[in-house]
Amino acid sequence: MTTRLRLLVGSTALLAGFCFLTSAAAAPPTLPAETYKKVAETDLAQLQEHIATAAKGGQDAKRFGPTAKTLAMMLAMYGEATGDAALRDGAVKVAEAIQAKDFAAAGTAAKALAIKGGGKALAPNGLAGKAKFGLEEVMSPFRGSKVGGLNIEKDLREMIKGTTPADPAAVQVLVARTAVLGEYTASFPNEKASINASNKAKWEKWSKDMIDVSKKLDAEASKGKGGDAKEIAKLLKLLDAKCSDCHNEFRD
Ligand code: HEC
Repeated sequence: MTTRLRLLVGSTALLAGFCFLTSAAAAPPTLPAETYKKVAETDLAQLQEHIATAAKGGQDAKRFGPTAKTLAMMLAMYGEATGDAALRDGAVKVAEAIQAKDFAAAGTAAKALAIKGGGKALAPNGLAGKAKFGLEEVMSPFRGSKVGGLNIEKDLREMIKGTTPADPAAVQVLVARTAVLGEYTASFPNEKASINASNKAKWEKWSKDMIDVSKKLDAEASKGKGGDAKEIAKLLKLLDAKCSDCHNEFRD
């Protein structure tokens, strides 16, 4: 082996180790404080509604429980992103109660949550490893609202078709959610994505792309009426393409 090749192999191994470390300690996407405030307030109200529905038990618990847990984990990440340790830790407790199917305790813990926001991001503390969180739950808010999701996939596609207007405030909430869900997605490569380095890299890339496109969309939509509607339409299509790319390769 030449020295150059040995050096290359060494640095690739180092790089792989580093990538592993960074993905294990996934940091929240950098979005403006205003965006986080908007989505956190929306999702705190949504969390309480979802818990109340899941608490009816049976089919409702099955359908709304997973999204309720994901909403709690999203709020935990909004807390981490905005320097709000009380929100982060309180939201993880809600997720743990939902995981234990104790919806009464989850409801009480969710009522105690408050959105302060506006601070510097906290050091990542391994949120993806908490409350037995997993990929199926991360994908759950994308489902239709009738089956317990947040209707994200349908809203995204209707905005692309123009059957639902791409109202800037609605776009901002949608893409803050997809950015944070993208961060969690990166932490949970499924079995097929984990069989070799090339598959892992693809999983990582599509998750990161999902975050990057979401951030660009937030920047454009935050301009309100002054935003470029054509650019927003283009980016919404690109976001949908990232979902499809990963699904075509890794979803059964
Ligand atoms: C990096 C890969 C990846 C990305 C990116 C991704 N998904 Fe998924 N998604 C999956 C996999 C894998 C599954 C199957 C999960 C399972 O049930 O085990 C899935 C499942 C789903 C489901 C079905 C959930 C259910 O329980 O019925 C929906 C809906 C969904 N994804 C929507 C989206 C949308 C919308 C986006 C983009 C905004 C997206 N996904 C981005 C990998 C991905």
